[in-house]
Formats: sequence, C-alpha cells, structure tokens
Amino acid sequence: MMRLQGKSALITGAARGIGRGFAEAYAREGASVAIADINLEAARATASEIGEAAYPVHMDVTRQESIDAAIETVVATAGKLDILINNAALFDAAETVDITRESYEKLYAVNVAGTLFTMQAAARQMIRQGHGGKIINMASQAGRRGESLVLVYCSTKAAVISMTQSAGLNLIKHGINVNAIAPGVVDGEHWVHVDSMFAKLEGKKPGQKKAEVEAGVPAGRFARPDDLTGMAVFLASSESDYILSQTYNVDGGQWMS
Ligand SMILES: NC(=O)c1ccc[n+]([C@@H]2O[C@H](COP(=O)([O-])OP(=O)(O)OC[C@H]3O[C@@H](n4cnc5c(N)ncnc54)[C@H](O)[C@@H]3O)[C@@H](O)[C@H]2O)c1
Repeated sequence: MMRLQGKSALITGAARGIGRGFAEAYAREGASVAIADINLEAARATASEIGEAAYPVHMDVTRQESIDAAIETVVATAGKLDILINNAALFDAAETVDITRESYEKLYAVNVAGTLFTMQAAARQMIRQGHGGKIINMASQAGRRGESLVLVYCSTKAAVISMTQSAGLNLIKHGINVNAIAPGVVDGEHWVHVDSMFAKLEGKKPGQKKAEVEAGVPAGRFARPDDLTGMAVFLASSESDYILSQTYNVDGGQWMS
C-alpha cells in the first residue's frame, strides 16, 4: 500500500542530497512532489529522473516573493499542498574569532528565516484548504550541542528545533503537525564541502576529517539519504497525526534524547 497516495508535497533544496532522497521516497509512496531549489537546472534534472510524480520549482527560501510563488505553483500544479519539508540549508565553519557577519547573515537567512517563512506560507495555504497538513523541518545533531568550529550552523539548527516546538504547538489547532528530523552525518556533496573546510581549518588531508567522523558513529558508517526516508514518510503520513513539536534523531546512535 502506498502511504502518501494523492498527497501533494513541496520539498525545499530537493535538487540533490537528502532532499532528493525524500523526493524519491515520496514519489514511490504515491505523492506528487515539487522539487524546489535555488538551482533550477539541477531541480529540473532531478525531477525528470524521478519521473512523472515530480516537477521542478525555482525557489529561493530567502526571498518572500519566491516562497509565495513556489506555493502558488504547487497549488496550480497539484491543486493543493499537504506536506512541506524545509530541507534547504547552508553550512559554514570558522574559528569563533573569524566568523564574519556575511556568513552569519547568509546562514540565518536560509536556515532560520527560510525555514520560518516557508513554514508560515505553507501553513497559511493548509489552513485555507481546511484539511490540516504535515510540516517537517530539517534540524541536525549540530542543533543539539555546539561544536568548536561550527557556531553559526549549530545555532541555526538549534533554532530549527525551537521553531518546530513553538509552531507545532500553535498549528495543531488547524490539524497541522510540525515535527523535525535531526540527522547525524549523511554522505553526499554536502560532506565533500564540509571535509574540505575542515581540511583547511584543522590542517587535515582531504578525506581525513570524514574518516575520523565516520569512526565515531556508533552505527559504524555515514548515513545515506535512504536511511532518513522512513522517518520522513512516517511524519508525512496519517500514522503520525498525534505527534507534534518533536525532533527525531536519525543518526546511527550519535545523540540520545
Ligand atoms: N549532510 C549531512 O550530514 C547533514 C546532517 C545533518 C543535517 N543535515 C541537514 O539536512 C538538509 C539537507 O542537507 P544536504 O546534505 O542534502 O545538503 P546539500 O547542500 O547537499 O543540499 C542543499 C540543497 O539546498 C539548495 N539550496 C541552498 N540554498 C537555497 C535557497 N536559498 N533556496 C532554495 N534552495 C536552496 C541547494 O541548491 C541544494 O540543492 C539540510 O537542512 C542540512 O542542514 C545534513
């Protein structure tokens, strides 16, 4: 049985990585999926590889008009919006004394304001429809505790956990469930970038940071996007109707809460 049959989903940052994995899983479960990304060309390629259930949408989560236009496109294409995954995010790393305002503002614009105002626009649409909905925010183990070189990113993910709590409490009266997923380390292009940043900051060889991090994962390996899709499908399905404001660790045992 397909668990998201007839549902309409919007996934931000779905052109690659974890978001792409979510889109593939939702399509398999019968949903129509908007592959929303700032990189339209990559979103197009991903949507066409997934097939008929997926369609590309150009979206920059830092711009309100782009958020509103993306929701309108989803409604025009699929007739409604049932599920949002706030997945788009940026990463940066620096010594505390070297953090720039530019980096701070960029990460907060995407990871915090982007998540908040996309969640708000989706909730307004879901309330208009009158049938509730599901919102899933992407947090991280980085939001559970600070990391020496990752102050800004960690704090944006702590904000995602907090926004999920408040929005979940506020929106349940409309039948909208807001929850979050906190992955540990997930293989993909994102980690190529992270590894190269740590190589510079900590004087490591390429690949060294990644290998060290992998050795510390209780499950013994990085996650693949597919390791996260079970939780993402569950939180989008009616099986999770009584769950709100939670952040679930899907991290191979890295954080316990
Ligand atoms: N990869 C990991 O190890 C890991 C661990 C924990 C949490 N996460 C979180 O999971 C989510 C996905 O991570 P990923 O590794 O797949 O990332 P990624 O960098 O591979 O993909 C992010 C996507 O977001 C898009 N994007 C960037 N800015 C955007 C904007 N302004 N508007 C719309 N789209 C934009 C990018 O084009 C890209 O396609 C993020 O929220 C990330 O913080 C990742």
